[in-house]
Amino acid sequence: MSAPVQAPRGTFDVLPADARRRTLIEGAARKVLEAAGYERIETPAFESTELFARGVGEATDVVQKEMYTFDDGGGRSLTLRPEGTAPICRAYVGHGMHKLAQPVKLWYLGSYFRHEAPQAGRYRQFWQVGAEALGSDDPAVDAESIALLAELLAELGVRGLRLRLSSLGAHDTRAAYREELQAYLHAHADRLAAEVRARIELNPLRAFDSGDPGTQAVMADAPLLLDRLGDEDRAHFAAVRALLDDAGLAYEVDGTLVRGLDYYTRTVFEFTSDELGAQSGVGGGGRYDGLVEQLGGAPTPGMGWAAGVERIMLAAGDQPQALPPVDLYVAFVGAEHRRAAFRIAALARHAGLHAQLELAGRGLKGQLKHAGRLRARYVAILGDEGTALKDMETGEQRELEPDAVIAAVQRVGL
Ligand code: HAM
Repeated sequence: MSAPVQAPRGTFDVLPADARRRTLIEGAARKVLEAAGYERIETPAFESTELFARGVGEATDVVQKEMYTFDDGGGRSLTLRPEGTAPICRAYVGHGMHKLAQPVKLWYLGSYFRHEAPQAGRYRQFWQVGAEALGSDDPAVDAESIALLAELLAELGVRGLRLRLSSLGAHDTRAAYREELQAYLHAHADRLAAEVRARIELNPLRAFDSGDPGTQAVMADAPLLLDRLGDEDRAHFAAVRALLDDAGLAYEVDGTLVRGLDYYTRTVFEFTSDELGAQSGVGGGGRYDGLVEQLGGAPTPGMGWAAGVERIMLAAGDQPQALPPVDLYVAFVGAEHRRAAFRIAALARHAGLHAQLELAGRGLKGQLKHAGRLRARYVAILGDEGTALKDMETGEQRELEPDAVIAAVQRVGL
């Protein structure tokens, strides 16, 4: 026998018990987001590579080393989507959504792909639930978006949550700050980790993320972008904070908050959970006022977030979901009763019951045992002696006409 084929590293199967919990997450997302007028959108699992190179940023880890990129055989470079914001901006432009009432509010849930080193809470295919609002730079969009993620995480029982908040300001503020930070890093280069030093030109902000103690000591005194914001950006950030205060949402302003994607302007935020290990980010996002234009659309502000479904489940702890109940199990003794049994099970489902049929050729004893395992409320038994209905709670059994089975089961639910 040859060795069994293995699933690729960093991937996992969603088994039924897991799928039940995910259904719950999807339902909660729909409820929370649709109540605020967000509508579901889905984009393809792969896109042209250019979308992410232009949208996410050439200098980011995501684009530099984490993308699954392939040639489609016709000379086009395609990439499995590593994130959902750039694709949604592409769709916004491509479908002329600027003609709709603004902001256009969209939510999504799907799988994303990053070639990262797998560890607890970090996978190569993972699921995100996300929300994007395009077409308004009103600070209320930012605050509402953040509050919606807070509500969703609370609804799902995510524990140990902390919200970090910052503002990156406008593009030119960031460019000037970048130069200032680079000069600071060069001045202290001897105390920085080699990998941080190597990235001073490409991505100096990542120095704030370093786990190296020497680098951390240098970064404790580094200039912060938050202290360099222009008047308008400062006012925008103050308005966002005031709305969050009014909403009673606790947050920490953290000028060292770094996001891994380049498109952010103004508000950025991240929810972390103390329940998670090194990969503590449950969900995060921010404003991306230049992204649509960068992708060839008219200047359009945008704000949104994404949260990792697996990290939500890890941080919410084990909350096993019960199997749906089985109202009726249709057993039969003798193959000549299969057709009648099949018909009763089908009609019962049409009538709105959860009904299953014996499908594995078990004897009557085996069928009753299986019905017990499924926690079936009733078992109909079809055989040469007629039809019986067994109440699995009381153990009582009575004879009845086959056509009376469904009504009898339905009556009990009343
Ligand atoms: P992100 O922070 O890169 O943002 O990812 C969002 C969330 O996805 C993370 O907080 C984490 O929970 C989850 N995640 C990311 N990578 C992995 C992985 N390898 N394994 C498991 N979970 C992962 C974005 O993707 C932005 N598009 C968010 C956004 C939307 N910004 C504005 N709008």
